[in-house]
Amino acid sequence: MQQWQEHLKQIIGEVLIDEAALHKRLDELAEQINHDYQDIQAERLVVVGILRGSVLFMSDLVRRLQMPVELDFMSASSYGGTESTGTVRITKDIGQDIRGKHVLLVEDIIDTGNTMSRLIPMLQKRNPASLKLCSLLNKPSRRLCEVNIDYQGFEIEDKFVVGYGLDYNGNYRHLPVVAVLKPECYA
Ligand code: PRP
Repeated sequence: MQQWQEHLKQIIGEVLIDEAALHKRLDELAEQINHDYQDIQAERLVVVGILRGSVLFMSDLVRRLQMPVELDFMSASSYGGTESTGTVRITKDIGQDIRGKHVLLVEDIIDTGNTMSRLIPMLQKRNPASLKLCSLLNKPSRRLCEVNIDYQGFEIEDKFVVGYGLDYNGNYRHLPVVAVLKPECYA
């Protein structure tokens, strides 16, 4: 345990968003979503998490939602190391027909916008009643494709971040904070 804490001290350059700030923003986002979807009580909101980065954010967000919710998942991958390859691969689709349903996509980060600019039109073609996007983080300085984010947690600078779902080569997703690694970690 102490070894892990020591390791974190060595690799984390800066904690960008701590647990208190995350939870406060989650409360605010959930309040907004609860308000916006208050009229769909008789139906279900289909919350679609984009694997794998969204998992921690999604699980904390849905626990705050006060309406019938169904969880589903999609998987899209475009990164190797710290750089987006630009080619978005859909590696898992949702397991249901969303025609006529209200759908909320949940992402950890919108960076170049490549992933969402591929996924959103694809899902729109299936004629959902509504399709909105909630992203914990937004890095607008990196945008290549325009993406409309309906619910945004935090706008951040162009720093490579890990934790709270975000990884570096598969590591550090489970950290309870959003952090910037020290530059030497990318060697
Ligand atoms: C990350 C992140 C988003 C996407 C955002 O996914 O989770 O889905 O990149 O980047 P973009 O706006 O430039 O497309 P990644 O492909 O790394 O998969 P992961 O969620 O499994 O980490």
